[in-house]
Amino acid sequence: MSVFFGVDYYPEHWARDRWETDAKLMQEMGLNIVRMGEFSWAKFEPGEGEFHFEWLDEAIALLAGHGIKTLIGTPTAAPPAWIIEKDPDILPVDSQGQQKGFGGRHHDCQSNVKYREHIRRLVTAMAEHYKDNENVVGWQIDNELGNSHEDLCMCDSCRHAFQQWLKKKYGSIENLNKEWGTVFWSQDYDKFSQIPAPKVTPTMHNPSLLLDWKRFCSDLVVDFQKLQVDIIKSICPHQPVTHNLMGLYDKTDYFDLASDLDFASNDQYPTGYYFTPPGQPSYEISACLDFIRSVKKKNFWMMELESGPTGGAFIGRMPRPGQLRLWTLHCIAHGSDTIVYFRWRTCLFGTEQFWHGILPHNGVPGRRYQELKDTVAEMVPVLKDIQGIVPKAEAAILFSYDQNNAIKIQPHHPELDYIEQVKKYYDSFYERNIPLDFISETEDFQDYKLVIAPLQFLMDAALEDKLMEYVKKGGRLVLTMRTGVKNRNNVCMGDMPLPGRLGGMLGIKIEDYDCPLGLTVKLEWTGTGIKDPGQEGVADKWCDIVTLGDAKPLAFYRSEYYKDTPAVTVNSYGAGKAYYVATEPDKHILGQLAELLREEAGLESLGESPKDVELTLRKGRARDYLFAINHTDCGQEVRIDRMWKRLDGCRENAFVVGGYGVNIYTRQSDAGQ
Ligand code: GLA
Ligand code: ZN
Repeated sequence: MSVFFGVDYYPEHWARDRWETDAKLMQEMGLNIVRMGEFSWAKFEPGEGEFHFEWLDEAIALLAGHGIKTLIGTPTAAPPAWIIEKDPDILPVDSQGQQKGFGGRHHDCQSNVKYREHIRRLVTAMAEHYKDNENVVGWQIDNELGNSHEDLCMCDSCRHAFQQWLKKKYGSIENLNKEWGTVFWSQDYDKFSQIPAPKVTPTMHNPSLLLDWKRFCSDLVVDFQKLQVDIIKSICPHQPVTHNLMGLYDKTDYFDLASDLDFASNDQYPTGYYFTPPGQPSYEISACLDFIRSVKKKNFWMMELESGPTGGAFIGRMPRPGQLRLWTLHCIAHGSDTIVYFRWRTCLFGTEQFWHGILPHNGVPGRRYQELKDTVAEMVPVLKDIQGIVPKAEAAILFSYDQNNAIKIQPHHPELDYIEQVKKYYDSFYERNIPLDFISETEDFQDYKLVIAPLQFLMDAALEDKLMEYVKKGGRLVLTMRTGVKNRNNVCMGDMPLPGRLGGMLGIKIEDYDCPLGLTVKLEWTGTGIKDPGQEGVADKWCDIVTLGDAKPLAFYRSEYYKDTPAVTVNSYGAGKAYYVATEPDKHILGQLAELLREEAGLESLGESPKDVELTLRKGRARDYLFAINHTDCGQEVRIDRMWKRLDGCRENAFVVGGYGVNIYTRQSDAGQ
């Protein structure tokens, strides 16, 4: 297995006589893979059925002469003008009923039959053309599916596809009416053809319709991708297929989308967009990386990693010296085995002329080139040892697109957000250097000592059983506010007090609740009462008012009419324990909870580090590698077991990590012992 480092390369943006220089510079930098072609439909097929692959053939061959392989992107994120002219219905329609125009990218309706015919023709021709090319190592389908689509498309074709989707799900219109509760506001339908796509209405849509629309949109994207996966797999089964996902972006269910892929890829721009300086917080990037590894429980490719300032009309910060190396090692530490930088050289024209690449506009290698060259040389030997060995955590966060969509439709509190909530729990473990995986509802929980399942708003008997079974067999489970409120059709359940059947396992009952708008509710962490009693904090966004059954309190509200009632509880159930967090505790209280969970679930921490300095482990065949990653701009000290030795042999101040620095520590691996 080769170790790949590479770039996103657009030879069509540069004069032919520059290609050789580019290839040579890439080779000198240690690069051996490029992704090409993902927006070049007009060059591949300037008119219907007139295929021109010779320019890419030439680029592939020239690069191969410098030891560089190619991964081809199918260019279906950018249907050319001639296709739109021929079939204007391909342009998507927004929720106002307004058709979007040609001129950016992703101006496509994914259910449009004619568009799919164009895709079938092009992708078949591409696959046929490249199936025997030994320098083509794989395919990326389309580009960042879901990006620029927002609520996808509300055209007649999509509306019709939605109706068909509903028919398959509900069987009869009577059943749909019953499940959605359309008796409310006279929304009873006589036939599926009456059901709208959720265009803007004078008031609000039925929440059941909205949730099904979200699921339909996700399924449509998955189906759209599958069309191309199937073509490529039938023609070139030996070439792997991937797609570039976007971390915790939520338009499409990535567990579903990735199930059709050989491996997942991710795009990461750590400085974020120019309007959010100084960029994404480190815990958030780590969460995205862990999530992408988790969608297939497999190591992934970084298909676009920032290599210069991001920019459009405005321009983001220049990556500081050390940051390009740091971002690279950060990705590797969390399970990325291949890094492809976006992009090779900064384009002179077009929308992204200020979205910088490794090389500046003038194409002359500078500081960023040198830093990445050194980084590649440093990391190739490490990757050879760790490649393919999947990092595995002892604890996991249950992640559900369904819960996210349902909470988005009715967040209760204007600031309550499912993904933000997930990130808060993630952060409380990240700060303690306790690794986490993400799991979907369909995976085996039993693999983990602890499962954190925030905001399980939608509930059904199967999930209840699974959660209870997990705890009964010895698992530690954290459930939170708004669990078990609704059924899967987004309708409230009224046959039991909240949180439904799970109340038995949790040893609590919720008979009342408060959305504390404009209030600060006091919270006190008392824990198990043995150590650190009396930590003060704040309860935010939601307060379930809990009646204790068998559960023991771990924290209390200390203001409002529910003062002195429990806000966090724990109950023993079977061989395990079930925790309930009735509110959104502040960071400090969440930290107390994380400490308790670490102790009770017996989770291993990788050591201690200051804020924004993380410790992350990759196991290798010969050695294990502990990455100490300092996301801050000044030197910081880490406290780890002294059995770890610096990979670079440095002994003086071996446990100090410089600003934007990463120290790699190693020890002999278990396998190597
Ligand atoms: C995305 C896309 C790229 C490029 C970069 C920079 O991640 O996949 O094609 O547009 O952003 O904007
Ligand atoms: Zn459409």
